[in-house]
Amino acid sequence: MIHFILNEQEVRTSLPEGMTILDFVRYHKRLPGTKTGCREGDCGACTVLIGDFENDQLVYRSMTSCLLPLTNVQGKHVVTVEGINMQQLSPVQQAMVDANGSQCGFCTIGFVMSLTGFVMHETHREYNKAIESIDGNICRCTGYKSIERAAQTISTALNNKPKEKTLQWLVDNSFIPGYFLDIKERLSALRRQLSVNIGDTNGMNIGGATDLNVQKHSLVKKSSLRNLFDDASLKSITKENGQCKIGASVTVTHFSESPVIKEIFPALDTHVKLVSSTPIRNMATLAGNIVNASPIGDMSIFFLALDASLVLNNKGNMRTVKLKDFYKGYKTLDKSPEEIIAQIVFEVPSKNSLFNFEKVCKRTYLDIASVNSAISMTLNSEGVIQDIHLSAGGVAPFPKYLSATVDFMKGKKPDAKTLKSAADIMNSEIQPISDARGTADYKRLLLRQLFFAHFAGYRKEILKELLTTA
Ligand SMILES: Cc1cc2nc3c(=O)[nH]c(=O)nc-3n(C[C@H](O)[C@H](O)[C@H](O)COP(=O)(O)OP(=O)(O)OC[C@H]3O[C@@H](n4cnc5c(N)ncnc54)[C@H](O)[C@@H]3O)c2cc1C
Ligand code: FES
Ligand code: FES
Repeated sequence: MIHFILNEQEVRTSLPEGMTILDFVRYHKRLPGTKTGCREGDCGACTVLIGDFENDQLVYRSMTSCLLPLTNVQGKHVVTVEGINMQQLSPVQQAMVDANGSQCGFCTIGFVMSLTGFVMHETHREYNKAIESIDGNICRCTGYKSIERAAQTISTALNNKPKEKTLQWLVDNSFIPGYFLDIKERLSALRRQLSVNIGDTNGMNIGGATDLNVQKHSLVKKSSLRNLFDDASLKSITKENGQCKIGASVTVTHFSESPVIKEIFPALDTHVKLVSSTPIRNMATLAGNIVNASPIGDMSIFFLALDASLVLNNKGNMRTVKLKDFYKGYKTLDKSPEEIIAQIVFEVPSKNSLFNFEKVCKRTYLDIASVNSAISMTLNSEGVIQDIHLSAGGVAPFPKYLSATVDFMKGKKPDAKTLKSAADIMNSEIQPISDARGTADYKRLLLRQLFFAHFAGYRKEILKELLTTA
């Protein structure tokens, strides 16, 4: 039995726990505002807001309901467009009307929900944050300029939004209906009645379901599920004795917002913006990315370059495996079906080391990579490479740790001569294939350029050296 609050109403259901929220609200609750578009998380027409507790605060995040299973909303607040409708249009809805931000209207509800998620965010007020909030919404007919104008009006209307008692201000200014003020208390009461929802420990492991519900939707719907997404033991991020330990079910959003992680990776925002879209990042877990084993999985590439290890748990029996040894072949892992990933662990790079992530896709945002690559590198006081880890996606059947290139570079200075020789070695240890994301030759060239880009960002003059060295 799944128990949650849908808009203003408390709901209990014994429908399959893998059923998507999109199907539940449209076909079982007759709430047709939420639209069915791609059913693959790409278009944003089905966007809803999910309210959940984060450090005792009730926080609302946008999610694509076409991928969101019922089990993942146990004890939470699900908000569809019907749940923000009032007698008059909200300032978000009105801004879309005034800016002519809607034509056929199919995408409009998704934009409105994402922008409402933006206004409900504690700290976000700025125009660029409004634009970021709609990075998972696609419009086929209006054109984005008018939607951008609506976003501008909405962000200006937030000038006086206070840092505290934000919810009260949003209600007073008719951004959301008054019933939102009671939700925190109602959810707390509801949760006191619920046992922790980890589902069937022998069932199918499910994180945010952003891969599973695209690839195996019908299987998810009929299977018994083990809910890892809400397992509190898999959600912490700690730094201790030079090691960072991240729970497997930390989402990409939580990873990118964590002060611990931000301190380690100052350019994190730039890297993470290249990964999917806001609603997908709000759902996607790190372990899901690693176990999905896509050859271009961004977070797998990120952690490979940190030489991370995985802690695997088989009903209390723990073992540790290096991420670079975890991938055995295309979608083949060093993991038994009974094992789950519990933690991702890496040594915190020293302050003066280089970390960089590069990704090239057909579109800059909301696209998977043609080729991606990450590097971490530490030099000694003589400028010689003391430690280096390098990874690449889209050039092998699985996310690739470039061991031969790394072995060659250790103990050398990262000058143009070393980089050119290293690029040749790298070229010999990859096996890209031609597919929809580019030919094999193009991917080889791309990786070479991304490899040089890692160093160009670090030391601008290296580009000149690379161009002039024979
Ligand atoms: C529109 C869209 C855009 C995307 N864009 C990108 C992108 O830009 N870059 C990118 O890398 N990916 C992208 N993805 C893929 C996906 O979002 C990520 O791979 C995500 O991290 C998967 O996590 P999840 O929690 O949703 O996994 P799920 O779908 O829940 O699970 C994936 C697999 O992992 C297993 N699993 C989950 N957690 C554990 C665990 N703790 N232990 C053992 N097994 C586990 C599941 O059983 C399943 O086999 C995109 C997906 C969509 C739908
Ligand atoms: S229907 Fe397209 S993202 Fe859900
Ligand atoms: S208004 Fe028609 S798709 Fe956006």
